[in-house]
Amino acid sequence: MNILVTGGAGYIGSHTIISLVDNGFSVTVIDNFCSGHIEAINAVSKYENKKIKVYNVDFSDINVLEGIVKKHDINGVIHFAAHSLVGESMDDPLKYYKNNVAKTILFLEFLKKSGINHFVFSSSAAVYGIPDKNPIDETSRLNPINVYGSTKQAVENLLDGMGRAYGFKYISLRYFNAAGAHKSGIIGEDHRPETHLIPKVLKSVAAGKNKAVVFGNDYPTHDGTAIRDYIHVDDLAGAHVLSLKYLIEDKKSKSGVYNLGCEKGYSVLDILRKTEEITGKKLKIEFAGRREGDPAILVASYEKIKKELGFEFKYSIGDIISSAWNWHSNHLNGYIAT
Ligand code: UFG
Repeated sequence: MNILVTGGAGYIGSHTIISLVDNGFSVTVIDNFCSGHIEAINAVSKYENKKIKVYNVDFSDINVLEGIVKKHDINGVIHFAAHSLVGESMDDPLKYYKNNVAKTILFLEFLKKSGINHFVFSSSAAVYGIPDKNPIDETSRLNPINVYGSTKQAVENLLDGMGRAYGFKYISLRYFNAAGAHKSGIIGEDHRPETHLIPKVLKSVAAGKNKAVVFGNDYPTHDGTAIRDYIHVDDLAGAHVLSLKYLIEDKKSKSGVYNLGCEKGYSVLDILRKTEEITGKKLKIEFAGRREGDPAILVASYEKIKKELGFEFKYSIGDIISSAWNWHSNHLNGYIAT
């Protein structure tokens, strides 16, 4: 089976490629490298001892895509390519709607015309906004509070329509907090700028600064700091492969929307304590005001994906932070050689 991965040079994309190759899929990557890293693809090729086919092309460049899809006889698609910074999405909504929605419409239209009918979509817990209750299940009200989340909801709505009208088969995966790095230490998280809690703190420790800033300590939680559901990037990667296999191999497969979290919540201070334990470094913790748009608690129910696709996560919060520490302590400048 030949799979096209958009945004395959990104954080979750590159980890998923390893899982795909390990599961016998042949992978073709397209990425415009606006935030992805060619070094990630090169590292995966070396690790798998297999050249990953990669094209520097935007997923909306349909003329070029036609040739790629024919040449590699593509049977299924995982669509990661998207802008994903919540703050930036509020400052520049046009950029987000153009890339995440308008271009995805063109891309989906092209897939439909090409008869490619197996599609896995990167969605986000951001579609829920501030939930009425936790853990959040897939029937919870969708009420995104930022532009990024609205763009993910817009594509989910289109997929729902395409499923009903054309029998288009898709799975939309709503990620909670992706974190950690591949066990080999060859690939990991390298966002520029980095805004996420775990990589930010670990980068500070790796740089010898040992600094952490906590956004808000007056939330209605056990220690006043916000609670999130962290899932190892390799568990996420495995869930993409599971979804694709289900769509392709199960003749009775149905399209669906699934949460991807572990149903375990950790506060910001819980994460910082675990980080101190794993790195052996005492953190200088500074408390700042709440970050705009941050819900107090986001914890996934993952019952649906467990029951319907047989998904089980393998990694604990300790595994997440240790694997990320392994990556950051050995790659002080991310993919730029140190
Ligand atoms: N935080 C800090 N200090 C930091 C960075 C983050 O206290 O230096 C806090 C945040 O305020 C938040 C928690 O740590 O309470 C987690 O923040 P992250 O930035 O790591 O992750 P988010 O929960 O904000 O973001 C995740 C995904 C987004 C998605 C969002 C949905 O990464 O893609 O959930 O709510 F949109």
